[in-house]
Amino acid sequence: MPLHDMPLDDTTLDNTSPALARGWHAVATTTEVSDGPTQVWLLGEPWVVVRLGGRLSAFRDRCPHRFAPLSAGRVVDGRLECAYHGWRFGSGGRAVTVPALDPSVPIPPRACLSSAAAVGERFGLVWIAPAEPVCDLHPFPEWDDPIYTRAATAPRRTTVSALQLADNFLDAAHFPTVHVQTFGTPEAAYVSPHHVTRDGWEIRTVYQAPYRNHDDPLVATGDHPLVQPHVLTKIGRPPASVSLTLDFPLTGHRLAILFVCQPETALRTRVYKLMVHNGIAPGDVGRITDLVAYEDFVLDEDLAVLERYERMTLATDLRAEVHSSADKLSVAYRRVLSELAADGGIDAQEATE
Ligand code: FES
Ligand SMILES: [Fe+2]
Repeated sequence: MPLHDMPLDDTTLDNTSPALARGWHAVATTTEVSDGPTQVWLLGEPWVVVRLGGRLSAFRDRCPHRFAPLSAGRVVDGRLECAYHGWRFGSGGRAVTVPALDPSVPIPPRACLSSAAAVGERFGLVWIAPAEPVCDLHPFPEWDDPIYTRAATAPRRTTVSALQLADNFLDAAHFPTVHVQTFGTPEAAYVSPHHVTRDGWEIRTVYQAPYRNHDDPLVATGDHPLVQPHVLTKIGRPPASVSLTLDFPLTGHRLAILFVCQPETALRTRVYKLMVHNGIAPGDVGRITDLVAYEDFVLDEDLAVLERYERMTLATDLRAEVHSSADKLSVAYRRVLSELAADGGIDAQEATE
């Protein structure tokens, strides 16, 4: 049997693999989490995100009393109140009020919510690490640098797994075949030799490649060629965040993109795509709108292939697929994921209860 026809069951990860609990996941935009409890999905489980007394908290969306979804409840006096019998929980997850109980009787110590190991807000997104994360949130320093203008596509849902998507954003060789209507160009078919470095759980590479730069106004005047060099820096962190930094020597422009893929359920992923650009003025609504529409279309090009996969899983056994020397970063990503899984993927429930 050819190696790539091997059964994959023991060597694949999908959106519900417990190993993915040990990392940071974007679960909503900041604006989606208002004053009331908000349900989000992660690794096949519902979570509730809520601001209690000014503090952002995330709990499994299941009341310990009769398992009612806490996201159906409300916030009262800085406590999360369950919609079923009115138990109230503080920001640490402990029950502080049980209406049916005689006030002189102590509240059972197990009347406590399952908390995420870590919660945060960065880059306009709400993040959860269900279990202790193996590494910090993905770096995106340009987001806070005033020389850049920010933009973001609307969060996007797809059946493709978060790991397959992150793998696609790290992939080097699909530009001329997948992105034929946008930046891909036949000159980019050959992927120049590049080193992949690893720092802890982070992988990165830098290389130069030709790029059809529709974004350069001097192309229309004939002062710049449409196909230009660009230096591409790719960084990946598990479970499924990837940044791409595109530097264009002819224009001096930098476009940096942060992708974060939220594994909601086995067949549902939400993709966040944040962008910064130093060649677009903050008030230039027309160019910002064009950039967002263009980058949405680039994602369409990727999804047109990825959504036709037979399985929404990623094989971490390097013998399962056939790799070329252009796939070094993709191979490194599989190694990182394989180590994450071997390092004791902790079930979120075990970790927090
Ligand atoms: S189920 Fe939540 S208070 Fe009873
Ligand atoms: Fe792509």
